[in-house]
Amino acid sequence: MDYAVVIQGLQKRYGAVTALRDITLAAPRGEIYGLLGPNGAGKTTTIRCLCTLSKPDGGRLEVDGISAIDQPREARRRLGYVAQEVALDKILTGRELLRLQAALYHLPRPLAQERIETLLTQLGLQDYANQKIGAYSGGLRKRLDLAAGLLHQPSVLVLDEPSVGLDIESRFILWAFLRQLRQNGTTVLITSHYLEEIDALADRLAIIDKGRVIAEGTPQELKNRVGGDRVALKIREFTPLEEAQKAEVLLKSLPFVEEIIINGAQGNTLNLIVRAKSNGLSQIEQTLLNQGLPLFSLAQSRPSLDDVYLAATGQTLLDAELAGAAQRDLKAEKKQAMTA
Ligand SMILES: Nc1ncnc2c1ncn2[C@@H]1O[C@H](COP(=O)(O)OP(=O)(O)OP(=O)(O)O)[C@@H](O)[C@H]1O
Ligand SMILES: [Mg+2]
Repeated sequence: MDYAVVIQGLQKRYGAVTALRDITLAAPRGEIYGLLGPNGAGKTTTIRCLCTLSKPDGGRLEVDGISAIDQPREARRRLGYVAQEVALDKILTGRELLRLQAALYHLPRPLAQERIETLLTQLGLQDYANQKIGAYSGGLRKRLDLAAGLLHQPSVLVLDEPSVGLDIESRFILWAFLRQLRQNGTTVLITSHYLEEIDALADRLAIIDKGRVIAEGTPQELKNRVGGDRVALKIREFTPLEEAQKAEVLLKSLPFVEEIIINGAQGNTLNLIVRAKSNGLSQIEQTLLNQGLPLFSLAQSRPSLDDVYLAATGQTLLDAELAGAAQRDLKAEKKQAMTA
């Protein structure tokens, strides 16, 4: 296999905080590779180490077989980086910013000129090229930032949370553009905490949690690994717990039901993992009905990447994000209390 990016045993500490414990992954050339994980998982740190903006404490980083640690300049030439938060110079026009960027990359004038015009066209920015960046919408800024990252024709484009703050239309434009890049042979490394984004875009992905890769593969491989279909059902809109538990006992006896978890947060929903079975849903319904428990709702679905995350960590990605946010709020409150 030909890999454009290889990361092995990457470690990074910030004082007492261990941001990366062991990041190991490899992105095949010409594919879109996703890094998925909740806030604070270590996505940005991984990318910053790869792009030589942050020094790792251990591990191996390679771009096109070149070590980003031993030959940072060589590695950097092959990488285009679109950061999570960009501070574009607002008083410049889009075209001026690209000219400046081209000069930073030491691109010869005629080549720079040609690249700038090509990218402005490809990204639908021609009409805005002479406007000041301060007047750009979020979507336009992101596209300009992409153009800047691609000027020197990197073999690997690295994007950190490119969809955050974009409306749906801008997101689709971005996705289409990234797929086009892949078609032309560029390898794309993209971080996101949107499951749907990685599922829709990535050929392969690594799920990162607390500085470690906890699952790696194609979206389909990962979903197949967590087993059968998911069935979510409710007896009533807000089912009393004892009724849910009664249903649980009944459904457990069905041979194709592998696991049942009662989720109290949404009014005691029963979440079942079932082996593929054509009349499974009607059997579930009949079993409950026979015992005087008619259904309020019933839905079957293929496992999602969230199920993969759940299987690996014991909580859903959304719960992990909420827990992280709550922890940050608590810290902020403490800080405020201390300074008050
Ligand atoms: N400069 C820094 N100094 C101290 N701690 C840091 C620094 N940068 C990151 N961290 C910590 O390292 C961990 C990983 O952070 P990182 O930004 O890589 O996560 P992330 O996956 O990109 O999260 P997000 O989805 O919020 O962007 C977090 O615990 C974070 O607080
Ligand atoms: Mg980040």
